Amino acid sequence: MLYDATRNDHGLAIDPFKAVIVPRPIGWISSLGADGNVNLAPYSFFNAMSEKPAYVVFGSGGRKDSLRNIEETGEFVCNLATWDLREAVNATSATVERAVDEFELAGLGKAESRFVRPPRVAETPVAFECVYEQTIRPAAHDATSGYAIVLGRVVGVYIDDAFIHEGRVDTAAMKPIARLGYSEYAVIDEVFRMRRPD
Ligand SMILES: Cc1cc2nc3c(=O)[nH]c(=O)nc-3n(C[C@H](O)[C@H](O)[C@H](O)COP(=O)(O)O)c2cc1C
Repeated sequence: MLYDATRNDHGLAIDPFKAVIVPRPIGWISSLGADGNVNLAPYSFFNAMSEKPAYVVFGSGGRKDSLRNIEETGEFVCNLATWDLREAVNATSATVERAVDEFELAGLGKAESRFVRPPRVAETPVAFECVYEQTIRPAAHDATSGYAIVLGRVVGVYIDDAFIHEGRVDTAAMKPIARLGYSEYAVIDEVFRMRRPD
């Protein structure tokens, strides 16, 4: 098949797009509103776009609480979603009132960040502390349903020392989870190496 992505005429019961751009890392994003409310939610339209300086992006389908908070207070933290935390990741995706603290909802601890005000998830092995730079509203964006793309500069990286061995991070030991399509996920618990040609 080859379908028209603007008309989305794939003819399938469920849009296949997310099932074929895989695996997508999950930015489990904590943020604070101007009134101090704490927010935590997973975003799988998420990735790093550069290093030195390091930038991350995530896509918000509509004006959700994370986007609102980040535009208000200018900071956020991207926590790593792992196999051990999978139920909590899912629980924090519930649509709840803005005042609800999803850390409490999911029974998670808060750890202080070093460079920004929003806390990180105490149980996560990795967290990126980010400063908001801009929201990109693509031409086809509409305020209620269109995606806004949020760009943040990474200003601090937390890594649990327990996962650092001989100068390298043991990624597989952290068992990161990633999003596929539908309700499917992948877990990284095995890696292979391949050297680039000279
Ligand atoms: C694994 C996972 C990934 C998700 N990825 C996205 C995403 O990329 N963009 C989005 O708008 N919603 C995404 N969602 C849904 C949001 O997490 C959900 O709408 C949440 O309530 C938003 O919270 P907030 O309003 O506190 O920001 C995802 C949900 C799950 C479980």
